[in-house]
Amino acid sequence: MASVPALSASIQQRVSAALAAAVPSAADADPLLRRSDRADFQANGVLGLAKRNKANPRELAAEVVAHLPEDDVLAGVEVSGPGFLNLTVSDAAILRTLAARAEDDRLGVPAAADPRRMIIEYSQPNVAKEMHVGHLRSTVIGDALVRIMEFRGETVIRRNHVGDWGTQFGMLVQYLIEHPHELDHESGETGGAAMSRLDRLYKASRAVFDSDAEFKERARRRVVDLQAGDPETTELWQKIVDESKIYFNAVYDRLDVLLTDDDLVGESAYNDDLPVLARELEDSGVAVRSNGALCVFFDDVLGPDGQPVPLIVRKADGGFGYAATDLAAIRNRVGVLKADTLLYLVDSRQALHFKMVFETARRAGWLPEGAAHHLPFGTVLGKDGKPFKTRSGETVRLMDLLAEAVDRARAVVEEKSSGLGAEEVGERSVQVGIGAVKYADLSTSRARDYVFDLDRMVSLNGDTSVYLQYAYARIRSILRRAEGRTPKAHPQLELAPAERALGLHLDELAATLDGVAETYEPHKLASYLYGLASAYTTFYDQCPVLKAPTPEMVENRLFLCDLTARTLNRGMGLLGIRTPEQL
Ligand code: ARG
Repeated sequence: MASVPALSASIQQRVSAALAAAVPSAADADPLLRRSDRADFQANGVLGLAKRNKANPRELAAEVVAHLPEDDVLAGVEVSGPGFLNLTVSDAAILRTLAARAEDDRLGVPAAADPRRMIIEYSQPNVAKEMHVGHLRSTVIGDALVRIMEFRGETVIRRNHVGDWGTQFGMLVQYLIEHPHELDHESGETGGAAMSRLDRLYKASRAVFDSDAEFKERARRRVVDLQAGDPETTELWQKIVDESKIYFNAVYDRLDVLLTDDDLVGESAYNDDLPVLARELEDSGVAVRSNGALCVFFDDVLGPDGQPVPLIVRKADGGFGYAATDLAAIRNRVGVLKADTLLYLVDSRQALHFKMVFETARRAGWLPEGAAHHLPFGTVLGKDGKPFKTRSGETVRLMDLLAEAVDRARAVVEEKSSGLGAEEVGERSVQVGIGAVKYADLSTSRARDYVFDLDRMVSLNGDTSVYLQYAYARIRSILRRAEGRTPKAHPQLELAPAERALGLHLDELAATLDGVAETYEPHKLASYLYGLASAYTTFYDQCPVLKAPTPEMVENRLFLCDLTARTLNRGMGLLGIRTPEQL
């Protein structure tokens, strides 16, 4: 494992040193380096420095240039405009850096200097309920963050905080006691069948609950039994949870995400902690009694009537709710699991809930300042711009949606590839269809809403996973056809503009991942990969590979192809998307 410094970092360092040499008082002045279309990089930092020192910016720029080291990394430096530096990297430096990346399995991406211990909480569906597009976003984004953080060397603990507790389970269990065969099934059934059965159970019990006051009373008593750990009640509750797990796992399997049963720690897991937690909060004065409930108040959280809206830790009837469970989870994650960073992938409508929960935990001394982050995401919209629903106004079943994506992908795969067997077509359709859904989600910045449009998602053109998968497959096919000629960097060669652009882009994977890790925004990786595939497409149009004029150029271009393929494969893998060898 050898980390390779990016060219942008080497240039940054050189210009910083030259700035400091030209103006000794500016030892830590930022050269403000960025990519530029005039040259490879432009540094704008001289302007501000000149202003602060009342110097002539162009003269100062010339002095900085004079202090740049004479080595073969920089091929050209030019002062332009009011005092910008235009910097061109040498072709040899580009190729040498890329060759070092190619040597390394991690493509020269360094591991995090100070690895964190993080909990990433994602997916969080509700037992006995269908998963919907909101859970899709949480699952897909959370899973990409897990893969990226693990690649960086952070310790990641996954948590699937499923909704498996609460008053509705009294209703479900009571109904099951009165209709004992509702969940019976043949072995070897699919996740979809499990879900339909749960859905039926849910609807049937809800109907009786709403119409029959005596059943309602029996259901209410059943909640008390459940909370008290009554064996028969617990057993039936477990049966419902297990049935849901069949369905969840079928969805996770189809979505190709990392979540397993070991990650599933639902709301119920904290049941025994709740009374202790409430007592602690009350003893420390963080929570106070208000109208019989145990509440936490905040100066800046007011309702529409101007009255404070509390976080309710325990209701007046003695029951604990959603907030108490979240507080207990924090206590466990920081206190027992020793996490230093807690990430929550939950939609933006729960922002206020998390703000109050985090602040309460902080006041109680359970959560260090700034350790927990709610990472909200926007809504998935239908083509009409409204939250995504079926034509009859129901929430869309996630399994149906994924099945449709795979169907659409099948059409693309069948059109693109001839001579594939039925099994291969099936496998690839899944990789393309699921990849399309994931990529559409991951390429939109987290906080934004997006329109769920399968036609666009499986398109071969534009910012789609299919375009990226296709670019990868095309490169792999060139490498297969190379017949004895192997990828090899030749730093003495002069590079064409499209080769330089591709090379400089290849060099930025590590910086991109740093950006993702800092802001928890996987779309930065998606847009990097799209940029890479685009740079490759231009290269491919302008630079013949196998028919390049000399054997060295063939090898050098094969080298660029190979590194591009490996970078695409790695990057897509970090997003949780497969890159088939052939499309
Ligand atoms: N189960 C909840 C839902 O489907 C989301 C849970 C979010 N996580 C949490 N720690 N509160 O809306």
